[in-house]
Amino acid sequence: MNIMYRACLKASKLLIRDFGEIEKLQVSSKGPGDFVSSADKRTEKILIEELQKAHPDYGIVTEETGIINKSNMKNRWIIDPIDGTMNFLKSIPQFAISIGYEEEGEIKCGVIFNPIMNEMFCAEKGNGAYLNNSRIRVSNKKKIKDALLVTGGPKGSSKIKDKIFSEYINVSKNVSNVRKFGSAALDMAFVACGRFDGYWQREINLWDVAAGVVIVKEAGGFFCF
Ligand code: IPD
Ligand code: CA
Repeated sequence: MNIMYRACLKASKLLIRDFGEIEKLQVSSKGPGDFVSSADKRTEKILIEELQKAHPDYGIVTEETGIINKSNMKNRWIIDPIDGTMNFLKSIPQFAISIGYEEEGEIKCGVIFNPIMNEMFCAEKGNGAYLNNSRIRVSNKKKIKDALLVTGGPKGSSKIKDKIFSEYINVSKNVSNVRKFGSAALDMAFVACGRFDGYWQREINLWDVAAGVVIVKEAGGFFCF
């Protein structure tokens, strides 16, 4: 946990500065609807350096670089340097650094940090989930009709847009309301602390949700992938 905190805090210093100077960022296109900023790449570089300093042999799965130390499948960091890239680029403070630690196929620890709101969500298997220093729990809504849910997608390149939209309509009719906040990691963190009652999404990547899995579970929730 300490290694992940340190990496997050170091990377977030530059991210906060970049957020304040968002117009000056160089933006490159990575396909329809999926933009990656130079801040994204630099944040990932800092995270990798910090995590590798502590454990040079661990595998790393990242959104930008791909897989590092492929042969180590036993211990892996799973990194999303900026989850909510579109929000970041539009100066919307709903994005986060997300790091999960996986051991023998199970996510054991996770950290999701929104540097602008200064909200650090974290959990370690067996030790509960926390928002900054306070213990968090999922909501206790009993009925789906009373639930406030959150979702994401479809991506610009999605081939199942119609299916995703009709699912959105169907779900919306059966719950209290639905939100789309643009950061899967924070969507899950918000479920963990009871702000949302649930989250669903198709076409999601491991790095979007890895840290969220353990945080939601340790907050008393459940997760299906
Ligand atoms: C995206 C966000 C978004 C979700 C997308 C993800 P990115 O991650 O989590 O909420 O709907 O599926 O790809 O591109 O901002 O790191
Ligand atoms: Ca992401």
